[in-house]
Amino acid sequence: MPETGIEGKPELVFFVNGRKVVDQDVDPEMTLLTYLRTKLRLTGAKLGCGEGGCGACTVMVSRYNPTQRKVLHLAVNACLAPICSLHGAAVTTVEGIGSTRTRLHPVQERLAKAHGSQCGFCTPGIVMSMYTLLRNHPTPNMEQLEAAFQGNLCRCTGYRPILEGYKTFTKEFQGCCGGMAGNGCCRNGQNGQAANGQAANGQASNGHAVNGQATNGQTSNGHAVNGQATNGQTSNGHAVNGQATNGDTGNGWNEDVSKELFQVSEFQPLDPTQEPIFPPELMKTESSEQTTLKFAGERVTWIKPATFKEVLELKAKNPRAKLVIGNSEIGVEVKFKNCEYPLIIAPGHLPEINFHRYTEHGITFGAGCTLTYLNDTLAEAIHDLPEHQTRLFAAIVEMLRWFAGHQIRNVGCIGGNIVTASPISDLNPIFLSAGCTVTAMSHQGGSRVVKMDHAFFPGYRKTALTPEEVMVSLDVPFTKENEYFLAYKQAKRRDDDIAIVNAAFRVQIEEGTDIIQDIALSFGGMAPTSVMACNTANRLIGLKWDNDLLPEACSCLEDDLPLPPSVPGGMVEFRRTLTTSFFFKFFLSVQQRLNLKDVPPPYRSACSLYHREPPHGAQMYQEVPEGQAREDAVGRPIMHLSALKQVTGEAVYTDDMPPIQGELYLGLVLSKKAHAKIVSIDPSEALKMPGVETFVSAEDVPGSNITGPVVLDEEVFASEKVTCVGQVVGAVLADTQAHAQRAAKAVVVQYEDMEPKIITIEDAILHQSFFHPINKIEKGNLEEAFERSDQIIEGELRIGGQEHFYLETCAAIVVPHGEDGEMEIFCSTQNPTKTQMLAAKALGVPANRVVCRMKRMGGGFGGKETRTCVISSVCAVAAHKVRRPVRIMLDRDEDMVITGTRHPFLGRYKVGFMSDGRVLALDISLYSNAGNSLDLSRGVTDRALFHSDSVYTIPNVRAVGYTCKTNTASNTAFRGFGGPQGLFFAESWISDVATKCGISQLTVREINMHKEGDLTHYNMKLERCQVQRCWEECLKQSDFHTRRRQVDRFNGENRWKKRGLAAIPTKFGISFTSTFLNQAGALVHVYTDGSVLVTHGGTEMGQGLHTKMVQVACRALKIPTSRIHISETSTNTVPNTSPTAASASSDLNGMAVKIACETILQRLEPYMGKGSWDDWVRAAYFDRVGLSATGFYRTPGLDYDMQKNEGRPFNYFCYGAAVSEVEIDCLTGDHTVLRTDIVMDVGDSLNPAIDIGQIEGAFVQGCGLFTMEEQVYSPEGVLYSRGPGMYKIPGFADIPIHFNVSLLRGAPNDKAIFSSKAVGEPPLFLASSVFFAIKDAVYSARADAGLKGTFRLDSPATAECIRMACEDQFTAQFPAAEPGSFTPWAIKL
Ligand SMILES: Cc1cc2nc3c(=O)[nH]c(=O)nc-3n(C[C@H](O)[C@H](O)[C@H](O)COP(=O)(O)OP(=O)(O)OC[C@H]3O[C@@H](n4cnc5c(N)ncnc54)[C@H](O)[C@@H]3O)c2cc1C
Ligand code: FES
Ligand code: FES
Repeated sequence: MPETGIEGKPELVFFVNGRKVVDQDVDPEMTLLTYLRTKLRLTGAKLGCGEGGCGACTVMVSRYNPTQRKVLHLAVNACLAPICSLHGAAVTTVEGIGSTRTRLHPVQERLAKAHGSQCGFCTPGIVMSMYTLLRNHPTPNMEQLEAAFQGNLCRCTGYRPILEGYKTFTKEFQGCCGGMAGNGCCRNGQNGQAANGQAANGQASNGHAVNGQATNGQTSNGHAVNGQATNGQTSNGHAVNGQATNGDTGNGWNEDVSKELFQVSEFQPLDPTQEPIFPPELMKTESSEQTTLKFAGERVTWIKPATFKEVLELKAKNPRAKLVIGNSEIGVEVKFKNCEYPLIIAPGHLPEINFHRYTEHGITFGAGCTLTYLNDTLAEAIHDLPEHQTRLFAAIVEMLRWFAGHQIRNVGCIGGNIVTASPISDLNPIFLSAGCTVTAMSHQGGSRVVKMDHAFFPGYRKTALTPEEVMVSLDVPFTKENEYFLAYKQAKRRDDDIAIVNAAFRVQIEEGTDIIQDIALSFGGMAPTSVMACNTANRLIGLKWDNDLLPEACSCLEDDLPLPPSVPGGMVEFRRTLTTSFFFKFFLSVQQRLNLKDVPPPYRSACSLYHREPPHGAQMYQEVPEGQAREDAVGRPIMHLSALKQVTGEAVYTDDMPPIQGELYLGLVLSKKAHAKIVSIDPSEALKMPGVETFVSAEDVPGSNITGPVVLDEEVFASEKVTCVGQVVGAVLADTQAHAQRAAKAVVVQYEDMEPKIITIEDAILHQSFFHPINKIEKGNLEEAFERSDQIIEGELRIGGQEHFYLETCAAIVVPHGEDGEMEIFCSTQNPTKTQMLAAKALGVPANRVVCRMKRMGGGFGGKETRTCVISSVCAVAAHKVRRPVRIMLDRDEDMVITGTRHPFLGRYKVGFMSDGRVLALDISLYSNAGNSLDLSRGVTDRALFHSDSVYTIPNVRAVGYTCKTNTASNTAFRGFGGPQGLFFAESWISDVATKCGISQLTVREINMHKEGDLTHYNMKLERCQVQRCWEECLKQSDFHTRRRQVDRFNGENRWKKRGLAAIPTKFGISFTSTFLNQAGALVHVYTDGSVLVTHGGTEMGQGLHTKMVQVACRALKIPTSRIHISETSTNTVPNTSPTAASASSDLNGMAVKIACETILQRLEPYMGKGSWDDWVRAAYFDRVGLSATGFYRTPGLDYDMQKNEGRPFNYFCYGAAVSEVEIDCLTGDHTVLRTDIVMDVGDSLNPAIDIGQIEGAFVQGCGLFTMEEQVYSPEGVLYSRGPGMYKIPGFADIPIHFNVSLLRGAPNDKAIFSSKAVGEPPLFLASSVFFAIKDAVYSARADAGLKGTFRLDSPATAECIRMACEDQFTAQFPAAEPGSFTPWAIKL
């Protein structure tokens, strides 16, 4: 316990949802999130990452600010808020604003009804971000709306429906008529109204001209959505997000097509006067409190000092004590970097560090001011003061736009950012270049002023302040008239991401000349600290700001900012190139401002700041046929059946279940080595730690330690050796999660390294480390075809893996029942049967003793198909050992290390083709990195082989699939299951064929595209092939040809920003390729009150399967959906289920449910003469008729034989097409998706809202795969990218600005339930249209640099890849070091 010499009251007082909480026994190490979930049992806020990176834990924290005399409402990450920091605050959680039992808040209702919640795990956080925004701005604008979600992630929806629902609160939406008041806006479909737009000189009768103009024309009976219908007619048609100028855009959309997925008129209005009031008691407390608080925990003491003097005294006595304000640094250090800080001082409330003051030279900010406060104050100053004075302020405000999300900026403070001294701090380079000064104070030394200059950061995470000193304030100066200031940042993702490199430049030009009087150039991400390029500055002073300056500056920067090839963080050439590219942008911007010499028009594109217009979209689907019974829900866009519970936080996920008496928590001991012998495991220190019950390892497995979902090639606990980092070696059971995890870290495992260590695909090829057999699909005569070909290309390409990043990590609760070895497993899994079977095997009991129950998952995407069994089996063994219930929910970093990802693939291909673009022959070898066990990898490689033709009929093919065995975590299923990888190679080589032939990409794709009746390379005949229809409709809908010309024009006019356009078709085979899995069961009970309980083999992970199954039962039984319920999936109701995977679950389970329902209906038939459903049921019951039935279905006709290359591997195909347009910044590698149009074939949709949600969600997930998500591994096989901080999935700002989705009309499918088609996986690949549009844009940049011909672009096309592919004078300055001459920091698997 640290010696503080300070007494304090140990009483925490705060409010939660209006209820006062007084706690005299708080643990300072506990976060608000844990407190809410475990102590208050408010489980609405979720744990998605624990590091402030996902927003699932967002709550609103309100405080009274005595200086401002007002209550401030802030969105905050509960996972980073220490519970002690909440003293005097009022916390509002999702449960506090509305519920299904009382009344939903409009924020909850609109999200649910707009289909903005799929798995629902992100939903409470999204609701609370929106709620907080509305508490501060009851009618926000679109920009505020989008900014509110910078700190929230959703892995399911693709964000569009969330924004669409919440748009209804905005000024822009409510503009013309006051919006919701008076029951809906005029744009809500009233005849003849053109909302948010004009219907000048024309009619918009019976239709909508929403957000756009219908000028001089008619939009009668049609829609001109988000666009213009000028001088023309869109009668009976749509001009969607585009222009229908002087003509008819018909598009063939008829009146049976709807674009309304929800009804705005149904929304309750928002009434801001009805919100709960801030507890008056807290106003008093905050303004008058002068009491020191002190909370002493097991390892940490937390002091909230009453005075600043106390802070200085405490620091003098305990120089190593940490001041904590926002805890956004310290929280992460403690949780993920094992830092321990026994004494925490929390001075955030003290006025001495919480103020701003205008001075003669600028503004002084207290060090405790939050970044939000800094931003708002500077924005005000920019508004009030002359432009030249506020150029530095403008640079800070612009940078803060890209600094974390609201939740972090609301708590993180200026002092925290400076004193942390992170080498990638976004503000420090600005403060350095501005020459800001810091005032510091200590008990002994009093106050002193320190300039932020090259000496301020003397080393990694060090500042010029002494440990006893407290930073009090920062002076931010005004700029002068002849002074210019700009700052830049490049990150992996635009929103909420730390910088790869950032820079801040200040230059002062001598009055009336172009001579540099003073200049400062500072950088982040280029050294262990933020650095100033002092030599460059010295060299440039006195020079002219003209074109000769640039080469001089670039050459000096090269010397000032060296990076060794193996530098931590990697990306050496990219980082170095960014330094000069940023300077180039600054150079041109100043040149433009100076007006000395005009910047050539094409070069001006280097200067523009990023601006994104608000997103728009249209979703179109076929309405149900006229005459369909009203209660028949099939084909209607009904809301996800759990949506209302998800938006209120009432939906229960595994870890939301209340603790069970005697429950213990499981902490995992994971391998730190990729390939090593286990020499010893010593848990003795762990066993002495508080709360620890026991240690569990291979010795405790009562049944078999050998396990595996497909073949038995894994162990429950590693016994003699480990074969990857992250393998489970042992586990500690303790009373709480914190105790279990701490103790697990104290278990000492000694290893002896083993050789070889096979990490990459190339390593596997070198060591011939493959799982056998090596499958092959062969057709035609390759050799002969190559001979006949006019041209041949050969190449190699890579597509990286992808982390599932389901928002809910793997979780399980195992309850031993003590009788006959019975055990109940609650598990977040797509595969209850495998969970049951593998636990039974480990326990050594028959499967009939183990029940697996699954209510819902917070996302799965394939990641919970088999790898969850690793966790549930370990839990089962542990529960068996102690005979007590055991719980685990993996932390995000554990989940990412343990559970595997999408398979990285390497493809080597040779393609023979004629000069007119016809492809004759394809010889391709696909190598997948499977990791250390087989898992589902053979199926993944096979699916890649099946999809390696994309949508092209190739007469001669050899496709060989190598499943590489490596020392990395076992990779597994992920939406698409190898399909997207196979398709990616095909679309890449066909693009190259077009380039080689000098013909358009469209033409080459079209002449090779499948036609009805064609045979695939595995000799399956294509029947009802819809690819051409999707393709043509998509080209038309997107107005491809016009936009091609526009893109080319744009590229001709701009050198440093380029646009690209690409159209990509897709075909995806539906069925498990393991034929036996294509079966499903259902159990339907009808109770005597007429209510129906449906159970089937599929699991609900957000994809809306249960909703669709209720729709199926509704039609089959002819009763309303309200009579039907699905409660969970369990192995004791429907046995031997297949995993919910392969997009086939609606097809399979839907048929099983239908069959069961039909059986019941048949039994009821004799009673149907009179009365209602309830009467029939009662009569049947009294007649002793069974009111429960099972249904079983197996897909007929699946009989593919790979040896013979004949038969049908798939039941049918799904088709689609997408056109995407992007803009790239050639100097930074940044990209924006300007527009995407998708036409997708889903047969007769069972539920268009769900299907469109799946398409959009898959597309955005695919954008992550193809452009952003990058796993970073060390050469030793250690995963670095273990959380949202380093692994970036797309955020709200990454979706296409215009995002249009239509479901192909009139394409019923005779092979699946009610003529529908699968939808989960097929659309994901369409996101490659963004990748190929980027490539198209890069082609243009390269052409400007004089580079012609094809080039290799691997997936993902990250900012680094884009920048380095746009070769120019800046990239040329930094050639890559010779491979093999150094050990890289990171490698590609
Ligand atoms: C999800 C996430 C995203 C982030 N994104 C960014 C980003 O985009 N750009 C970026 O630059 N940073 C980012 N950060 C880092 C962080 O948010 C900032 O550095 C923030 O300003 C830290 O402030 P804090 O109040 O939370 O610090 P705390 O964690 O409370 O404290 C940090 C350190 O500062 C010290 N300290 C604080 N105040 C004083 C003082 N007055 N005197 C002396 N020492 C003091 C503390 O003792 C501690 O060592 C991010 C962090 C997270 C978790
Ligand atoms: S759990 Fe708090 S931000 Fe992810
Ligand atoms: S609905 Fe957003 S993560 Fe699932």
